[in-house]
Amino acid sequence: MDAITDTARLLSSLRGVWDEEAVDELDHALQSATRAVDDGADDELVLAAALHDIARSPMFDASAARRHDEVAKGWLTPRFGERVGWLAGQHVAAKRYLAATDPGYAAALSPTSVSSLRAQGGAGVDAALVAHPWWPDALRLRRYDDAAKDPDADGTVTIEDVLAVAERVVRQRDSR
Ligand SMILES: [Fe+2]
Repeated sequence: MDAITDTARLLSSLRGVWDEEAVDELDHALQSATRAVDDGADDELVLAAALHDIARSPMFDASAARRHDEVAKGWLTPRFGERVGWLAGQHVAAKRYLAATDPGYAAALSPTSVSSLRAQGGAGVDAALVAHPWWPDALRLRRYDDAAKDPDADGTVTIEDVLAVAERVVRQRDSR
């Protein structure tokens, strides 16, 4: 199966999967992508935002949820390239970084995110990551993620919109 078909199945499988209380994982994915589009993010960043939590899908086994950042990176990299995988793979590290460096950040996190932060090692800065040229985009993704938990959001992008972005990313990679 190709990357686009895989992605369509994965996204659909997120309907009715609840990690946060306010939105299910499909709405969370689509709201994350919408925040990215609204921010003028490029296709790879939009795609990484949409797919950063795919490891919550029941199509992965239950252990995937524990290291869901690494599982996302491992799934996305061969299909959509190094940068999409890397950006999605840093969303936990970006949360730890923002909690350590932005005084208002931790206070604004959702209750679920606060308790997972503890399990993820708490606030912390990884100097090697911060020096990475893609790190600013990882922080942008994290802001989209945190702003994608609105039960009343409307006007979000659709699964089809995300798949169109995914197709462009694949085409761009093929043409390189
Ligand atoms: Fe998320």
